[in-house]
Amino acid sequence: MSILASRLSRIKPSPTIAVTNKARELKAAGRDVIGLGAGEPDFDTPDNIKAAAIKAIETGDTKYTAVDGTPALKKAICAKFARENGLTYTPDQITVGVGGKQVLYNALMATLNPGDEVIIPAPYWVSYPDMVELAEGTPVTVSCPAEQGFKLQPADLEKAITPKTKWLILNSPSNPSGAAYTRAEMKALTDVLVKHPHVWVMTDDMYEHLLYDGLEFVTPAQVEPSLYDRTLTVNGVSKSYAMTGWRIGYAGGPKDLIKAIGVIQSQSTSNPTSIAQAAAVEALNGPQDFIKERAEVFRQRRDLVVSMLNQATGLSCPKPEGAFYVYPSCAGTIGKTTPDGKVIESDEDFVTYLLESEGVAVVQGSAFGLAPHFRISYATSTEALEEACRRIQRACGNLR
Ligand SMILES: Cc1ncc(COP(=O)(O)O)c(C=O)c1O
Repeated sequence: MSILASRLSRIKPSPTIAVTNKARELKAAGRDVIGLGAGEPDFDTPDNIKAAAIKAIETGDTKYTAVDGTPALKKAICAKFARENGLTYTPDQITVGVGGKQVLYNALMATLNPGDEVIIPAPYWVSYPDMVELAEGTPVTVSCPAEQGFKLQPADLEKAITPKTKWLILNSPSNPSGAAYTRAEMKALTDVLVKHPHVWVMTDDMYEHLLYDGLEFVTPAQVEPSLYDRTLTVNGVSKSYAMTGWRIGYAGGPKDLIKAIGVIQSQSTSNPTSIAQAAAVEALNGPQDFIKERAEVFRQRRDLVVSMLNQATGLSCPKPEGAFYVYPSCAGTIGKTTPDGKVIESDEDFVTYLLESEGVAVVQGSAFGLAPHFRISYATSTEALEEACRRIQRACGNLR
């Protein structure tokens, strides 16, 4: 009999981490590999934030804290929600976890009973369906193809709702498509939810600050205040402040839910690192100007990658509104043959071909629930992106 629990059979290891590991292995073996798999900014954490962490260590801020966040961090988060999103939360409506990932996981663990359904628009962040499965819920994915800008349509949302629906998970700007809802598009979705009072919305606003071309960021409870009592607004410092390794994420929501999330956390990890929390206070309360400057760099890279990929035979790359990903279609390469005689039958075959022939690591769209596509993270240097896109163009040109 296996030592492993049956729940493990319901989930798979993160495919994005798998690609990053494979690229790392090939690099270690001496191959010239450009990794475009990882979802983290290549920028460094700003110095003022690092200094706050060092100060925390030096002043003995190194003990257990309140399980779901220090009072100082909760206060900074309340101020952030008010300042940037027009949302009023009190500290007892805030929870802080070890990354947005833990907050989302805890929220699902705290709310799902076996068979409860969670609506997840596809393409989706790889962890949502697996987290739902771990919590014994049922993921209900709704396809949102490129022709609709990778966005959930109100009529499709309406169709997906059943008496068992507990949550809709929204993620705008999106990982992996970069799609972001306008206020009108978000309102059309919240209008549907207003008609179904048993459905809650978990909004993953992680890429809030990475939005281009003057687009306004919107979040459900702001667009439709009547949903405030059934919305969990999740955010974090990883992407906006280049703090992926610090592991701080947070959420605002109704008190009872927030308390339940804290109970789950109290019996698993307890508090996030005291030092990282001190750093996050500085991130949220300190200077914010660099966020815009960095977003402008990302926008330039997006434009470069979109333009170069659209010059590759067989690829078609929509221009995303935000985040640091593009999600091109490789439908035009399916059925073609590689120089060593393999037929490309899926996006997985295509990304394997890119890695083996040109040393470019990207993630297949099937991992995100919408194929045949692939995801490129452009959170890497402009030079590396240019070289990677040249190699992709060459690889596509070599298909027959
Ligand atoms: C859409 C989305 N949500 C949540 C996360 C988790 O971020 P973290 O746990 O670093 O806060 C990520 C990270 O890749 C993400 O892309």
